[in-house]
Amino acid sequence: MAEGQFGVAGLGVMGQMVALNIERNGFPVVAYNRGAEKADRMRELSTGKNVQVTQSIGEFASLLAKPRKVLIMVTAGKGTDAVISDLRGVLEEGDIIIDGGNAHFPDTNRRQEELSGTGLHFIGCGISGGEKGALLGPSIMPGGDKQAYRLVEPVLTKIAAQTDYGPCCTYVGAGSAGHYVKMVHNGIEYGIMQILCEAYDVMRKSLGMPAAEIQQVFAKWTETEISGFLVEISATCLAKSDGLTGKPLVELILDTAGQKGTGKWTAQTSLDLGVPTPTLSMAVQARILSGLKSQRVEAARILRGPQASAAGDRGAMVSALFDAVYLGIVTSYAQGMALIQGASQEYEYGVNLSEVARIWKAGCIIRSRLLDPIRQAYESNPGLVNLLVDDRFSAVANRTVDGLRTIVKLAAETGVPATCLGASLAYVDSYRSEFLPANLLQAQRDLFGAHTYRRLDRSGVFHTEWEDQQVM
Ligand code: 6PG
Repeated sequence: MAEGQFGVAGLGVMGQMVALNIERNGFPVVAYNRGAEKADRMRELSTGKNVQVTQSIGEFASLLAKPRKVLIMVTAGKGTDAVISDLRGVLEEGDIIIDGGNAHFPDTNRRQEELSGTGLHFIGCGISGGEKGALLGPSIMPGGDKQAYRLVEPVLTKIAAQTDYGPCCTYVGAGSAGHYVKMVHNGIEYGIMQILCEAYDVMRKSLGMPAAEIQQVFAKWTETEISGFLVEISATCLAKSDGLTGKPLVELILDTAGQKGTGKWTAQTSLDLGVPTPTLSMAVQARILSGLKSQRVEAARILRGPQASAAGDRGAMVSALFDAVYLGIVTSYAQGMALIQGASQEYEYGVNLSEVARIWKAGCIIRSRLLDPIRQAYESNPGLVNLLVDDRFSAVANRTVDGLRTIVKLAAETGVPATCLGASLAYVDSYRSEFLPANLLQAQRDLFGAHTYRRLDRSGVFHTEWEDQQVM
């Protein structure tokens, strides 16, 4: 068999699919997994293909052409460190390790640091698209060692999803930029998913719509400018009937959401960097709240909601809901892009936001028609401070904000939690406010802590004795 051009270490479903994708694109693969079960499954899947499967790390290295290129596809965390440590025993100077997991970016920085001086190159690489994407063409976000990237670029760009604007893979930036961008991708994913869930909730609870009608609304949205993978799969989920009861399957699913950490890390880094991402952060809070099922069941008996039920003209409300979802999705992208921009400055990643939008256009979970105008916005103005003030998107925001306001109001009146829709509206309203009430906040801080304040009408730093007598 031909010498392996690319190694894949870790043969869970994602690893298997990426290995098959690489082979299908003409690069002989060596696939490694220590455990027999996954290795055997890979052997089955790759029968007759240019894939050699091994359970020995030594053999893995010996079957690969030099400089060796190894893509690690294991669940992020300790497993990644274990594989890197095994690889260090068998790889040689000039070889390249690519971590394709959802690593937390500080771990990527640490791994880079640990490998520096060993002669091994390290690329932290976000990969999005789930099982199907991994097989047919994911969105790939590599960062780190740029010289090493040039050596793996022909393979990564070939296995990525392809668009009219090129492959969905580009070198996103220095250091941990690849994993940072992937983390924010997931943060945006959380925001959009929660916005769509709230739209579903408003339709079923505030508007009293039956499941089939709600499904039709989502299906219609797939024909509009907000169409994208997450809108499409929502329509698909809502169309599925339960084999046992005949009811819509979604209605039978426990309302408690899981999470693996990338959304939480996005919220954490936004606090660290001081970049506001309320929609993305509240999506994490909404998942946490969903986890309090037993408390919620109890509280439902104790706490009172509003009496109001379904409001006025349903057609008008569904059309307002479209606008609300539209602006909720746009604010999710706007916050995510602003966060990447902030991180790129802070960590000197050198990220090109139009390129990020370009490689998210296909293959990944947040792919959407909106990514074309988002790419254009950052292409024509690379320093754009916020997507909402781009000409095209400010027009969108101004056109849709009344709908968002109507829906947030409807949700409040009918007692339906519009966690992310509300956060999106507050974000837009805050961002467009020349004056926020932080003047009072500064006065409060100055009163109890002499933290000082600045004035609108003159320069300098001021402190006032706010009370005649000291209170404490
Ligand atoms: C992707 C997905 C992928 C995965 C997330 C889901 O881009 O392919 O984002 O990374 O589905 O891990 O995250 P949660 O389990 O936290 O929802």
